Parts: sequence; C-alpha cells; structure tokens
Amino acid sequence: MRWMIVRNDEDLACVAYKVIRNEMMAHPEGMTIGLATGSSPMGVYEEWRKDDIDCSHVTTVNLDEYVGLPLDHPNSYHSFMQEYLFDYVKFKESYIPDGTADPVEESARYEDLVRKLGVDLQLLGIGSNGHIAFNEPGTPFDTKTHVTRLTESTRRANQRFFERIEDVPVEAITMGIGTIMRAKKIVLVASGERKAEAVRQMLEGEETTECPATILKHHEDTLVILDEASAASLSEETKRRGRVAFEAFEC
Ligand code: GLP
Repeated sequence: MRWMIVRNDEDLACVAYKVIRNEMMAHPEGMTIGLATGSSPMGVYEEWRKDDIDCSHVTTVNLDEYVGLPLDHPNSYHSFMQEYLFDYVKFKESYIPDGTADPVEESARYEDLVRKLGVDLQLLGIGSNGHIAFNEPGTPFDTKTHVTRLTESTRRANQRFFERIEDVPVEAITMGIGTIMRAKKIVLVASGERKAEAVRQMLEGEETTECPATILKHHEDTLVILDEASAASLSEETKRRGRVAFEAFEC
C-alpha cells in the first residue's frame, strides 16, 4: 500500500484525477473504472468535468446504491453520478446497482457484471467507521456484491444529503470487499478530521473486519491519498513518508 499526504482538497483531487487520467490514456483499447459516491470523490469529478479527454472507450461501474430509492430520486447514487459526472462526460457504458429491483437478485446480477467487466481502477472513499463502499464493520473480507443493512453511524453521516434521518434508507446494495479487492488498481481518497481514526487503523492498525479498509494492505496496488486533517492521527514517520511521496508527484 502506498500513501501520499497532500496540502489541500485541490491537490487531493489533482493527484487522484491524474492517476485516473493516466490509466485511461494507457488503455486506449478499452477499460473499466469503478466509481464511488459521497463527498470524497466530488473534487475528482470536478477535475474530470473540466477535462476534455475522450472517455468513449471507458466503462464505469459504481460501488453501491441505496435500496428502495427510485433511480431519479435526488438522493439516489444514480442522480449523484448524473449530476457530478455523467451529464458532462460521455462514457462507453455506465452501471450502477438498481435499488428498485429485487435486492438479492440484483446483487447476484451485479456481481456477475462486475466480474465480467473486470475493474482496472477502483476509486474509493472511506467511512469514518472504516467502511468501504457500504461494507460496514464486521463484513467478512471475501464478500461478493450483497444487500447490507446500514449502521446508524453511517445513516447519520449520510443524513446531510437528506432532509430527515427517517429519509435515509436502511439498506443498500454494495459491491463486496472480495469484489473490490479484485480491482487491479485502487485509489482511495480521504479528507477531513472525521476520517482520521479510520485512516490510522487502515495504515497502521491490525487487519480486522471491524475496520473493513484494513484489508487494503493486502491489495497489491493501492494508493491512499490523504489531506493533513485525515492524516492527523498517523505517526510522524508515516506522515513524513506520505508528504515526501507527494513532493515527488507533479500537481
Ligand atoms: C458512503 C459511501 C462510500 C463512501 C463513504 C464516505 O456511505 N457508500 O462509498 O466512501 O460513505 O462518504 P463521504 O465521502 O461522503 O465521507
């Protein structure tokens, strides 16, 4: 696992998007990128929207979707992706789990789809409890795409996108940890102090299903991009190495 500590949100978006862009350029024959939602990737999508690169050879596949929200609901991840990326950038094909379909059947269908596509690069955020996609603490590391019950802390964290806590769905369809681990390359972005403890566990803690992101240590090509606030609980040596890695990167 490699990590980089950047100065601010602009640098975080710049580094992450550069890695994605390089990967798209390196695969003119076609490729698949796994996309994430939430606040973390918003800056990355802003960089992407400003770019005029041709993405007609790129297929996208999102990590997760709430169960029960119509696709055009303002808080569905379908709407999120439309608003922040798909209205601006034209891809070959884009896939997101359908939260209105039978969740168990849809999970199986989506797992097959992701397996067939093969993800070349997966963009990830991290929850403040260490979740990746919607794989909450306690999820076994080998899970496939499945239906999951959201923890109260995740529902509260995501309440800011909804009017009331009662409006936040209780279930989601999510790629499993095993599904995510099959991606050839992973880029995880984290910012803000509320991620600091999860980031510390991921980089310096024991591998445990209680912090799902700790499995990423076993992935052969994961880059973690952090701002200073999310890196605040790391040891001085880990921080130093992260800052040096950023200095070597042109952004
Ligand atoms: C959400 C998403 C994750 C995301 C995480 C962090 O619930 N399912 O894919 O990475 O929680 O969200 P945010 O970036 O908004 O802090």
